[in-house]
Amino acid sequence: MTQSLFSLTAKQVMQDAPVIPVIVLHEVAHAVLLARALVAGGIRMLEITLRTSAALECMRVIRAEVPEAIVGAGTVCSARDVDACLEAGARFVVSPGYTSQLGLACHARGLPLLPGVATASEIMQAQDDGYTELKFFPALQAGGVAVLKALYGPFSHIQFCPTGGITAQNAGEFLALPNVVCVGGSWLVPADALAQGDYARIEVLARQAAHLAPQNRAHRKT
Ligand code: 3PG
Repeated sequence: MTQSLFSLTAKQVMQDAPVIPVIVLHEVAHAVLLARALVAGGIRMLEITLRTSAALECMRVIRAEVPEAIVGAGTVCSARDVDACLEAGARFVVSPGYTSQLGLACHARGLPLLPGVATASEIMQAQDDGYTELKFFPALQAGGVAVLKALYGPFSHIQFCPTGGITAQNAGEFLALPNVVCVGGSWLVPADALAQGDYARIEVLARQAAHLAPQNRAHRKT
């Protein structure tokens, strides 16, 4: 894809750290402390999912109060959502699937998009529209490492962020693949840690995630 209006590309979003946290926030009051904990642990690309009524306001407050964080919008399912995310301060978009309407809307706004795909046909549709950095979703349920190895044959130029069923335990298997740059996952932000205000635990999880497999990613920085 071309360089975005914000000088941020999908490739840069994927290369920033080994893990993009998939975040579900029900309380705006949690947003800033959570973002600070993740950033302190070394994770600054934050995917705030549009699954709660608080999501857009959470993006706004993180954007305003945690300048080290780079706010992204997740679970973006239609082109209609894109402008609201942009207005709330999102600098990248992640979607569970792909439609050309969504792809073209993000492209028109210079907003990096990591669109979700699970099949060869979906990859072909996304790449027809210029997208070669893709989320593989739902990664584990769709076949995991074995499917990514198979996709590397015809699509060796596609770079993936597998998401769905990834844990601290299995992330390394995915990150070792030549077509995986980073993974996505919700395990960095456990709902009980958020409810208890245990940001120290979240910072530890982020730090562990930030140190996953750096040797496998280093060569992709160039
Ligand atoms: C999602 O969109 O919910 C992600 O795939 C996160 O999945 P996980 O909870 O299995 O990490």
